[in-house]
Amino acid sequence: MTERKIIAVVGATGAQGGGLVRAILDDPNGGFSARAITQNPDSDKARNLAGMGAEVTRANIDDEDSVARALQGAYGAYFVTFFWEHFSPDKEMAEIRNMARAAKTAGVQHVIWSTLEDTRRWVPLSDNRMPTLMGHYKVPHFDAKGASDKVFAELGVPTTFLLTSFYWDNLISSGMGPKRDPDGKLAFTLPMGDKKLPGIGAEDIGKCAYGIFRKGREYVGRTVGIAGGHPTGAQMARELGNALGQEVRYNAVTPEQFRGFGFPGAEDLGNMFQFKRDFEDYYCGVRNLEVSRALNPSLQTFDRWLAANKNRIPLD
Ligand SMILES: NC(=O)c1ccc[n+]([C@@H]2O[C@H](COP(=O)([O-])OP(=O)(O)OC[C@H]3O[C@@H](n4cnc5c(N)ncnc54)[C@H](OP(=O)(O)O)[C@@H]3O)[C@@H](O)[C@H]2O)c1
Repeated sequence: MTERKIIAVVGATGAQGGGLVRAILDDPNGGFSARAITQNPDSDKARNLAGMGAEVTRANIDDEDSVARALQGAYGAYFVTFFWEHFSPDKEMAEIRNMARAAKTAGVQHVIWSTLEDTRRWVPLSDNRMPTLMGHYKVPHFDAKGASDKVFAELGVPTTFLLTSFYWDNLISSGMGPKRDPDGKLAFTLPMGDKKLPGIGAEDIGKCAYGIFRKGREYVGRTVGIAGGHPTGAQMARELGNALGQEVRYNAVTPEQFRGFGFPGAEDLGNMFQFKRDFEDYYCGVRNLEVSRALNPSLQTFDRWLAANKNRIPLD
């Protein structure tokens, strides 16, 4: 029997990494084994992954040496950062550098880095269509990731740059689901006008990443975008209504209004949606549905994702 190649997965107890660990474990003859990286191997989620057959190891992406140890002997690695846990682009950039350097030290042969666009390539800080945030950014949680892509290249780490999409799971757990109007009717709020919003079931991200690892070196050095669908806000509202069995109105607010909602990160997300709206052709084009489906044949569309998850969307 040939030795299975180890894929070490950051964020293994979370959405993206968890999907990848499960995809690897679901394919025992695929030639890969999963090493789940966690800050806490004793947590229920980590124990659950161990019970499913993953090797569980401790590391913190703020500590380069711990990541290098966790990567020892690994063929591949999946890297993701956790902007919404700290809201700091500086911290995120330091963590990305830690992971890239650790991959170099450990001699990892294929990294998949879950990045996003540095939107300042499209909207320079001098462009006043959207406010500059934190002094240096248009969309901080995008820009810090995209600006760090070069670190992998500079270090000579063989890397695939994975552009993910809006999780449809945000309708369940991030407050993006439909809300009741004062008249009791459901409304789905999005600052996208009539433009398309590439989206994906979070579990499908890891399955696509697994598809990339399965293709060997084909995607090394390349950027690949993934999405399960490109629905407009109006289409999302209609499909939500069909799934929920009650009318859902599309509440197309402006990015300015969205930025003013006042919750933590509202300005960052308002700028993000405006970027996706204003550069729709680029943003959808790079997140090609056929490419995504070729990587992950079970990729869900929005209506299939809704059929499986509609009962998890809070409606009050
Ligand atoms: N929400 C969206 O629509 C969307 C779309 C595209 C991209 N993104 C990006 O996705 C990223 C988050 O990924 P996700 O959703 O997969 O995260 P997640 O589900 O929140 O997973 C976070 C996991 O990572 C681990 N973790 C947190 N801090 C860590 C650290 N310092 N060192 C090691 N592990 C750590 C934690 O596990 P342990 O406690 O077990 O260590 C936690 O379970 C964000 O940067 C965001 O910008 C989000």
